[in-house]
Amino acid sequence: MKQTDVCVIGAGPGGYVAAIKLAQLGKKVIVVDREYVGGVCLNCGCIPSKALISAAGFYDKMQHSEEMGLSIKGATVDFKKMQTWKESVVSKLTGGVAQLLKGNGCEYLAGSAKFKSPQELEIKMMDGKTETIKATNFVIATGSRPIEIPGFAFDKQNVLSSTEALELDKLPKRLAVIGGGYIGLEIGSFYQKFGVDVTVIEATAGLLLGVADQDCVQVVARKLKKRGVKVLLNAKAVSYKKTGDSLVVKISINGAEQEIPADKILVTVGRRPNSDQLGLSEVGVKIDKRGFIEADKQLRTNIPHIFAIGDIAGQPMLAHKASKEGIICAEVISGKNSVMDVKAIPAVIFTDPEIASVGLTADEAKAKGFDISIGQFPYGANGRALTMMDSDGFIKIITDKKNNLVLGVHIVGYEASNLISEAALALEMGATAEDIASTIHPHPTLPEMMMEAAESAMGHAIHIMAKPERERRTPSAASTSSH
Ligand code: NAI
Repeated sequence: MKQTDVCVIGAGPGGYVAAIKLAQLGKKVIVVDREYVGGVCLNCGCIPSKALISAAGFYDKMQHSEEMGLSIKGATVDFKKMQTWKESVVSKLTGGVAQLLKGNGCEYLAGSAKFKSPQELEIKMMDGKTETIKATNFVIATGSRPIEIPGFAFDKQNVLSSTEALELDKLPKRLAVIGGGYIGLEIGSFYQKFGVDVTVIEATAGLLLGVADQDCVQVVARKLKKRGVKVLLNAKAVSYKKTGDSLVVKISINGAEQEIPADKILVTVGRRPNSDQLGLSEVGVKIDKRGFIEADKQLRTNIPHIFAIGDIAGQPMLAHKASKEGIICAEVISGKNSVMDVKAIPAVIFTDPEIASVGLTADEAKAKGFDISIGQFPYGANGRALTMMDSDGFIKIITDKKNNLVLGVHIVGYEASNLISEAALALEMGATAEDIASTIHPHPTLPEMMMEAAESAMGHAIHIMAKPERERRTPSAASTSSH
């Protein structure tokens, strides 16, 4: 039996951040994980996918630089070597986190945890032994796993989850992606760049419906089409069969059946919380219908000494939201009066081009009763974007017409992921469009577009002609791309 102040279950970006913060605040901490340090994010999610996305981006640029005067003939892809490089990036980061846990005095146990009572956890250790931990507080940070759909059970061979799709050592010729959301589009896009024939099968009427500004999505959808990615909307995957070495996916589009040939099938239809193997109901922790643990703004469950953070505590399922919750709950456990009180959580989709957003969309702002102004600035009018040969996209800023307060920012374009933090800061600080527009942004850089979009929201960007008021209030992606 081990006794500790806090036991953190799960060592992903929620759990390991909570553990380090708790240790920094003087608590004795044990961290338990059944798989690995760093969680899905570092081992088989954000980091490996971004490594492969970067490699695909380089390869693609290499092949499309003739206009710049660069002709790179004979570029080849050694996918096995790329995977080795990707693994080295992952090990650097997971090794770093393990060191940080150790350096901060946290004890790490590799094993599977289950509550025996509200005060005790039983750990089935990887080495076969069983250990009991008694703790004053528990933090549940066990994350989520991919959802399976009927007829497409994950078998690591034909039907893959994102985990296996990031571990292939050979490029498939044809990839059928079921689900046109975050993961399907990120993985589908990079495989296409390596020459894989990609078909996206999406059940709803649009890609990324309800999760991203649809003008931004249109820019990505056009580029997918231009590249030859087939996107099938209103399409339900029904079943698949194997014929020889080949797979055939049967789909139904508005009642009509179609067959899609493929070598691998990737299923990315969402993720579900890992709340079902912890003995939570037995000890009385409240879980909602979808399996999320109910936690308050201090991340406390209905059992006051048990906390829940990250994917298991509800949407959005994003690593940075988990880490923030980890810090807040560590502070609460250490006696501070902290609460999860953020104005907005930024989100990035690493498609080509990237989509990044924070705060309200125009429709959400209108639904909340705001009289809005929309400022928009195209990448095509930004010097730096042109010098990088990446001029698709725009920055859109939604403001409250009454006082110019920034309500939301939506970016589609190169490096959108690295541009959105300025917007997140603006929202947190309660900045107005004037604040952004009057801040000097260095030239020539992409962030100048933020300044110009803010000016546009007030009607007078320097490097584009101001549009008539009526048009500014309902801009279309089509008019943007023509700049
Ligand atoms: P998702 O919720 O983003 O997209 C799932 C898509 O599958 C939806 O468009 C849905 O309509 C469609 N779908 C559902 N059932 C279907 C069916 N039977 N046939 C065809 N289509 C179907 O889920 P995804 O992509 O699995 O990602 C899960 C979560 O992981 C995301 O919500 C996000 O929070 C997180 N994530 C974040 C990333 C980032 O921050 N860049 C990257 C990857 C994942």
